[in-house]
Amino acid sequence: MTDDLLVGLDPAWERGDPSQLIPDNHRERVAELKTRDPLLAEAYERWAEVLAGAPTIRDLEQRTTMVLGRERGALTKALAGIPKLPIEQRRVWGAGLNSAKLGLEGIRDLRRVDLEASAESRTTAGLDVTLPGRRPWVGRRHVLAQVQDELLDLFHGLGYSVYTSPEMELDEYNFGKLNFAPDHPARDAHDTYFVDPAVLLRTHTSPGWVRAMEEREPPLRLVFPGRVYRAEQVDASHMDQFHQMDGLCVGPDVSMADLKGTLDTFARAIYGAQVRTRFIPIYFPFVEPGAQLDVSCVICDGTGVRRSKDGSSRCAVCKGTGWLEVLGSGMVHPNVFRAVGYDPEKVSGFAFGMGLERIAMLRYDVPEIRLFLENDLRFLGQFPS
Ligand code: DAH
Repeated sequence: MTDDLLVGLDPAWERGDPSQLIPDNHRERVAELKTRDPLLAEAYERWAEVLAGAPTIRDLEQRTTMVLGRERGALTKALAGIPKLPIEQRRVWGAGLNSAKLGLEGIRDLRRVDLEASAESRTTAGLDVTLPGRRPWVGRRHVLAQVQDELLDLFHGLGYSVYTSPEMELDEYNFGKLNFAPDHPARDAHDTYFVDPAVLLRTHTSPGWVRAMEEREPPLRLVFPGRVYRAEQVDASHMDQFHQMDGLCVGPDVSMADLKGTLDTFARAIYGAQVRTRFIPIYFPFVEPGAQLDVSCVICDGTGVRRSKDGSSRCAVCKGTGWLEVLGSGMVHPNVFRAVGYDPEKVSGFAFGMGLERIAMLRYDVPEIRLFLENDLRFLGQFPS
């Protein structure tokens, strides 16, 4: 039986020192096996040494197969022979072989860890230029930040600077100085979150004009990008926070023609050179007159009809009107100039304000405004950067 235990062990195999892998355990186990059968202890030591000395992972695997392998393993075969032994030897050999098996498995595992670690350090020390590179994960600007950058770039080219104002704003700046009468229904569209009765989360970026004008003398040409809040019922196209950008141009002789020219430039840069624009009269307390800018629908080219090979149907994006509402604008109301200490007889100005999500949704065909804030990389990774 003991002779069989060394079958398959090649005398030429390198040997290592198992007690370096499991210092105390190894000697203890050898001593324990000696009390059972000195030859078993000897066979155990030989196998332990060749496992500990395996120079490569492949050698280790080969040697493991010879001793512990389910078919050819010397130890496995010895265990299979136990039932044939005289009864009093069965227990000695059963316990001894199981203990040897445990010990050898431990040594095999630890040698494997060592070999893997040194294989890894070899590859990092010596650069293998034939391996494919590991591409680092590179982040990108959020799609809304990209839209905002694009707008800032455009208005920078038209002579505008950036002015940022607080997201937590005084009621007086969000409404009062922008000529909202205290109980005017225009406030209804701007239901928001109050911090206390006089302080709220701003509902639009227009309060930035008031702050800028109070701080500075005309002429001014500014844009006001930022996050705004409204207590909205959240659905596919409404969120309780979103992004806007206002613009303001004030000087001695600013006219509505200047506004139209500026917005035409904006519309062609953002929606494409082919778009047509129109102004629709609209009420905002802080401008007079107020104008909504529409652009011809970029999906149906302003026809209101979508043609495909199966026939034609009403354009779903402009709902068949051929026009898309893009932003609010107008000539700054004299009361706003008065509120900031400007003389409406001496200066005039125009303003406009747009939503960034709307621009991104139309451009990239995004059906759900909530996606912008969920920070799901599967969504955000789809936009070109
Ligand atoms: N602040 C308005 C809103 O959020 C949008 C707006 C309308 C901005 C007209 C303007 C403007 O600057 O002139 O509903």
